[in-house]
Amino acid sequence: MHSIEWNDTHLSLLDQRKLPHQSDWIHLKTHYEVSQAIKDMVVRGAPAIAIAGSYGLALAIKNGEDRTQAAQTLFQARPTAVNLQWALERLSLVTDSEVLNEAKRIHQEDLALNQNIGSHGAPLLNGGILTICNTGSLATSGHGTALGMIRSAHQNGQDIHVYILETRPYLQGARLTAYECMEEDIPSTLITDGMAGALLKTGRVQAAVAGCDRVAMNGDTANKIGTYQLAQLCHLHQVPFYIAMPTTTLDRECSSGTEIPIEERPPQEVRSVQGNLIAPHNIPVWNPSFDVTPAHLISGWVTELGIWNLPFPSQTSTGQKD
Ligand code: MRU
Repeated sequence: MHSIEWNDTHLSLLDQRKLPHQSDWIHLKTHYEVSQAIKDMVVRGAPAIAIAGSYGLALAIKNGEDRTQAAQTLFQARPTAVNLQWALERLSLVTDSEVLNEAKRIHQEDLALNQNIGSHGAPLLNGGILTICNTGSLATSGHGTALGMIRSAHQNGQDIHVYILETRPYLQGARLTAYECMEEDIPSTLITDGMAGALLKTGRVQAAVAGCDRVAMNGDTANKIGTYQLAQLCHLHQVPFYIAMPTTTLDRECSSGTEIPIEERPPQEVRSVQGNLIAPHNIPVWNPSFDVTPAHLISGWVTELGIWNLPFPSQTSTGQKD
């Protein structure tokens, strides 16, 4: 399963807003369209946004657009995931004629990186596993990060059962993670976000694992809204809570979680479900797309280089800006 394809003249994205019931690909020819697709969450998930943004810059160059302005437009599409910024900074180091190939490299490297996260992280998983949002093939170039660990554990024949939080308001868990698990026969059960505490109390969960959009140097971790309360609940129930973290998601310029910009999304996403209004049309809404989990609630960060604890290494050998 994959959601991003480069097709010589254009970028094709699997429209994640329509999954799992419709598989529509959309085809983009300008970086403006790519930026809008990132904003509208046609493509989402920190690594996938970075890959799409990289191809967006390649399209801008192909179309003779101002490269710096194009990078700025793409950079502003979604503010929390640092991977997009990381990718654009990496592309800024190569010439116009090399940007497309560098974007392809970013795309390919992400797959290998996820598989390494999977191999390092799978041994941590056994029995019931709670996860939030979608961190699988759809959120990356393939395999996934937190869901990549789960996928690797399943492929290794480990006895696991995934509890998927539906992940209001955008329902990435219910729509995307549930879809990926069903496609691969990974034993799984869907629950609503409000059921996590009751489930943990039953003792059926042995570990929780989530992805991340930006990790500060003190370990504070921004991820999908709801991650913080999940980590708190795990702490209360003495269940280990892991973050799957490509080293490209560590922001070395960010010392603590208070510095992480948190995207706020339109109220309509909370008032409605899949376009159907469920709340009074004018009820005021607060819709932060991410929250920050303090480092002390996190049992370890599973990276492509191994499992990290604090303090993080001062330098990393792969994929890392310093
Ligand atoms: O709003 P989204 O769907 O882009 O949020 C995605 C997440 O929070 C993921 O956990 C994170 O990007 C990691 S994806 C491997």
